[in-house]
Amino acid sequence: MFTNAIVRQPAKSMIEGLSEANLGSPNYQLACEQHAGYVKALIECGLSVTVLDAVEEFPDSCFVEDVALFTPTCVILTRPGAPTRQGEVAHIEAAVRSTGKTIEVIEAPGTIEAGDVMMVGNHYYIGLSDRTNANGAEQLIGLLNKYEMTGSVVEMSEMLHLKTGLSYLEGNNLLACGEFVNKAEFQQYELTEIPMANSYSANSVWINGTVLVPAGFTETSAAVKAMGYGVIEVPMSEFQKLDGGLSCLSLRFSI
Ligand code: GLY
Repeated sequence: MFTNAIVRQPAKSMIEGLSEANLGSPNYQLACEQHAGYVKALIECGLSVTVLDAVEEFPDSCFVEDVALFTPTCVILTRPGAPTRQGEVAHIEAAVRSTGKTIEVIEAPGTIEAGDVMMVGNHYYIGLSDRTNANGAEQLIGLLNKYEMTGSVVEMSEMLHLKTGLSYLEGNNLLACGEFVNKAEFQQYELTEIPMANSYSANSVWINGTVLVPAGFTETSAAVKAMGYGVIEVPMSEFQKLDGGLSCLSLRFSI
């Protein structure tokens, strides 16, 4: 169960954020409205939400998930592989410290973006993407082992982040899309394939028995409801334009 979340207001500079989506430039006002809707959904799931101020210097800084990995026993400050995002870590540190959790860090030459990390109980899958390298994954696994958790790497070649195409919903249920559907390590789960046409909704988020699904993906919502979860549909069009999914917009944890 999660008790808390940290999010960050989108910056006006988000229109200059990294993107390979070819969906056009985000509308800042609409992004702010959608962000407020996202925060409301987190609160509906029972979370106490800390909303950090926008940081104009970093266009992608609303995607806080990438810069820290919360585990039940420690928080790992990451080192993003995207050079324009590395400075975001310093901006999240105070909020992370205020949780009172023990902090660890990923050091150069390692890179990790926590969008590449999927937690399943005590185990963490780490996608080797353009943003997360083998050295970063090795450091992360070492830190997880230090706190009696485990990690393993997932080779990948198509998606931006591991969780771009994969979501663990608890209760052994996994949403998977594209290159992840046939991976051997995921066949132990009740795997629901998300067709490529609906790939954006493969990034859905389990929070305390409810699943946030991006609005407009009725097939995914129906499939998740059929598994027995409550569903909240959250409009995300402006963040989709920046390759950002539902999980990217928050750090979720328990204190
Ligand atoms: N625009 C989010 C990212 O590429 O990291």
